[in-house]
Amino acid sequence: MSRRVSRPAVSLLVCLLLTVGAAAASPPPVETPLLLGGFEDNAELGRVMLLANALHPTQVKLVRAHVTEGKRSLEIKVSTEGAVLYLRHRPANWTGVYALSLDLYSQAPAPIGLDGYLLQRLPGPGAGAPALPFRRILQPGKTHVMVRRPEESPLDLATLQPVTVLVLPGLAKPYRVYLDNVRLLPQPTAATAIIKGPYLQSLSATAVKVMWETDGPGDSSVSAAAVSQAARKYAGEPGTVHEVRLGDLSPDTSYSYVVSSEAVVSARSTFRTPPQTADGLRFVAYGDTRTQPLEHWRVARGIARAKPQFVLHTGDLVAAGKVYDNWEGDFFQPAADLLAGTCLFPVLGNHEADAHWYYDFFAPPGEVEGWYDFRWGPAYFLALDSGKPFDPTSEQGVWLQQRLASEACREARWRFALWHQPAYSSGPHGGSEALRKNVVPLLVEAKFDMVFAGHDHCYERSYADGLYHITAGGGGAPFYEQVPVDQEGKPRNPATQFFAIAYHFCLVDVKGDVLTMSVLTPAGEVLDRLTIKKGAAAGAADEGSLPQGATLRAASH
Ligand SMILES: [Fe+2]
Repeated sequence: MSRRVSRPAVSLLVCLLLTVGAAAASPPPVETPLLLGGFEDNAELGRVMLLANALHPTQVKLVRAHVTEGKRSLEIKVSTEGAVLYLRHRPANWTGVYALSLDLYSQAPAPIGLDGYLLQRLPGPGAGAPALPFRRILQPGKTHVMVRRPEESPLDLATLQPVTVLVLPGLAKPYRVYLDNVRLLPQPTAATAIIKGPYLQSLSATAVKVMWETDGPGDSSVSAAAVSQAARKYAGEPGTVHEVRLGDLSPDTSYSYVVSSEAVVSARSTFRTPPQTADGLRFVAYGDTRTQPLEHWRVARGIARAKPQFVLHTGDLVAAGKVYDNWEGDFFQPAADLLAGTCLFPVLGNHEADAHWYYDFFAPPGEVEGWYDFRWGPAYFLALDSGKPFDPTSEQGVWLQQRLASEACREARWRFALWHQPAYSSGPHGGSEALRKNVVPLLVEAKFDMVFAGHDHCYERSYADGLYHITAGGGGAPFYEQVPVDQEGKPRNPATQFFAIAYHFCLVDVKGDVLTMSVLTPAGEVLDRLTIKKGAAAGAADEGSLPQGATLRAASH
């Protein structure tokens, strides 16, 4: 890949901009265009110009010594006000372009959130350019950022004049970021990099599905080995989204594995199969991880520290399921370390928009990916799509009734359900009357213990008819306030026991006839604690101490 930074190119810049704007959640405001300086980074396909924004020219300059590769790169001094950079692309539309690729080296002491936008055209006074947002986490040190050209777009891609905006947040102290290797890439004809995963699906005592995505098509191979055993090779169908089933695994055994497509090989990860039979288990439930990847990253890191056997996700994994880039920015990048070793069981939220990406990227158990069930030790898990019909005559409703009558459900000691919209909630969305009418009575009759939902971005514990309803919507999405009473002053959720606003996840430990749920913040502080003993009087719970920064709203009773 040829690359140069040419001084003559700088003189070719005709229209350079000055923009004013601190880090913001929406495209930065654009003021009078002014010449400041420029940067060109050649690639085989075309050329990308950096249009330097800065109130002070010293904020952006070319430096000879690249901090990572010894080449020239662009040094961006990010003030406490933040910085906004425009990348203008050549060619002047997206034809033949697969992705924008760049490297950022951050000297900020902690991870920072990068907001970005793919704009239709160069912003100018009154431009109001439509934007497709993307988000990434920049770790201290080098982060490779690849933003794929949108496939489904409200914009006319044939006439799109691509401009990428990078919004770097202002922190308490100024910091520096180095930008290099900016390229517009054609789609590779063969896999050159793993861009998602590897991650685990449908883990059981004897099998698991390993998945990953590559930038171009390639074969699908997994090499897995139990400790002190020879590695075994597993193969799957070729493609860009790879899914390989590893069968004949030994229960209660740790495996290390690597995945490969063509010449690309992943880092080594490990997972552990559960025992064939057990009287206990440990899992996490969380949800609503969209829009704020840095918060999601913190929650996912906290979950990984708790070492659950698997993780339930109650939906709204991403802000816009039909926007391909959201899957990387909102979900797979923040949770990458967790997902490489811990199996995820997700359900669809409304923000997934029933997009094909959800079905492409996940392979939960069963035939229909929108709803499924599975056994884990003494427990039965039921996963529903609350955005699809679930009345008794619907496809999902018929399936639900069949599964509640199944041996797997009836013989379990503990029973859990997960879906997205809560049946009971005093968050702004409120509880679903349709779920309370069509689904909850069936679960009460089948002696379920707990339902996990999300949708309202808060934590809430409700209890009705012997069944706990947990809203676990604190996985990273912006907080919602409680709306405790309706316009007539009546409680909107008469079943509520506890409500709090904080990022969190629910850690559930089952041992014999005792269940303990600890609701934890990413820092490990206890937000709520609940103990259920089979055969004991239900509905009693111990509330944990409230961590700093959390907001508690008085429950109605
Ligand atoms: Fe939602």
